[in-house]
Amino acid sequence: MRKNIIAGNWKMNKTNKEAVEMLSALKDSVRDIDDVVIIIAPAFTALSDAINTVKGTNISISAQNVYPKDSGAYTGEVSPVMLSSMGVEYVIIGHSERREYFKESNAFINEKVFAILNNGMSPILCIGETLNEREDNVTNAVLEIQLREGLKNVTPEMASKIVVAYEPVWAIGTGKTATPEMAEHTHKAIREILTSMFGDVAQDMSILYGGSMKPNNAPELLSQPDIDGGLIGGASLQADTFTQIVLAAK
Ligand code: PGA
Repeated sequence: MRKNIIAGNWKMNKTNKEAVEMLSALKDSVRDIDDVVIIIAPAFTALSDAINTVKGTNISISAQNVYPKDSGAYTGEVSPVMLSSMGVEYVIIGHSERREYFKESNAFINEKVFAILNNGMSPILCIGETLNEREDNVTNAVLEIQLREGLKNVTPEMASKIVVAYEPVWAIGTGKTATPEMAEHTHKAIREILTSMFGDVAQDMSILYGGSMKPNNAPELLSQPDIDGGLIGGASLQADTFTQIVLAAK
């Protein structure tokens, strides 16, 4: 069964105090929701406080990054063993900001996929085309490369634990959203690529839409048959706007 997932990506925002305040409000407002998987991804510094705040609730915690080694001389990095031992359940990888600013390649992202799965967590793999790529009509080809290289050597069994987030780069933080029809069209193409890679398992994989999803556009986006949830940046920073999007996914 495909899961309905609403995940909030806080990016480089919120002190520990602010994280605890937001999550305390959120856990009250989403208390009765049992048919949406609710995920929040705070910065590394707030993970521990976030996990303590949501313990025993229906909110799961994700990291925003990981280094694909269990331990060692990698100054400044955080390992999947550290994350899973704290109770982190998901890790966002392949976000366009990391691809662009930190030059992360599909091969490096592929190493992270294995590191995350080997430590009992689920990757949220972000893929998406730039505006130039969309205008050049190479969107599907770009997404296919990101999927085939990012998920190289992944088995169907492993794929069943992976969440894919389609985030058109031109829609992230810009207020521009793909129209529901455009997003559905691309999600369908993504599912076809996943089917050619993993067979029937692709029917059970959740494909999230991300890029300026807000309470006003979420209902229409989330009602599309191949859009199984959202990865929310800006609108995940406040409990009330994020809750409205979670309610739209019900
Ligand atoms: P946005 O960010 O909702 O602020 O556009 C989405 C994301 O980058 O995941």
